[in-house]
Amino acid sequence: MRKLIVALLALTACNTSDQSNAVLRAQVDSLQRKLDDVYKPGLGEFMSGIQVHHAKLWFAGVAGNRKLADFEVGEIREALDDIEKYCADRPEVAQLPMIRPAVDSVSAAIAAGSFPAFKSSFVLLTATCNNCHRATKHEFNVIKVPDVPPITNQVFTKP
Ligand code: HEC
Repeated sequence: MRKLIVALLALTACNTSDQSNAVLRAQVDSLQRKLDDVYKPGLGEFMSGIQVHHAKLWFAGVAGNRKLADFEVGEIREALDDIEKYCADRPEVAQLPMIRPAVDSVSAAIAAGSFPAFKSSFVLLTATCNNCHRATKHEFNVIKVPDVPPITNQVFTKP
C-alpha cells in the first residue's frame, strides 16, 4: 500500500510538472511571437537620423553654440550605440568603430572652443562617413559639409 501511494505521488508530481512545463512553453512561445513583432528601426533609419544631427552639428559649431554642438555629437553617439545594439545582424556594423575617433575629435574641438579645430574635425568626420559607405558598398550615399541648415524651425545661434 505504502509503495502504491509513493508511486501515485510520484506520478502526480510528474504530471503536474509536465503540465506546468507545457504552460510555461506556451507562455514563452507567445512572448517570442510578441518580441518578433516589436518594431526595431533599421540601419537606414538610424543613418537618416545621424544625417540630420551631422548637419545640425555643423551649424551649431559655425554659430559657436557649444552646448548645442555638444548635444548633437551626443545624439550621433547615441545613434551609433543603438546601431550596435539593434542592428547587430547587419554585417556592415563591423565597420562602425572607424567613426568613433572622428566623433571624439569633434567633441575635443568643441570642448577646446576652437573653430579651426572644429572645422577640420568635422571634415574628418564627414570623410569617415564616406569611408564607411565605401567599405560597406554604399558609396552612392555621399555625405558633405552642408551649405544650408537642414531645418528652418530651429535656432542654431546661442539663445
Ligand atoms: C558602418 C559604417 C557606416 C558609418 C560609420 C556611417 N554610415 Fe551611413 N550608411 C551605412 C550603411 C551600411 C548604409 C545603408 C543602410 C541601409 O541599408 O539602409 C548607410 C546609409 C546612410 C544614409 C542613407 C540613409 C537613407 O535611408 O536614405 C545616410 C544619409 C547616411 N548613411 C549618413 C551617414 C553619416 C552622416 C555618417 C557619418 C556621421 C554615416 N552615415 C556613417 C554605413 C555607415
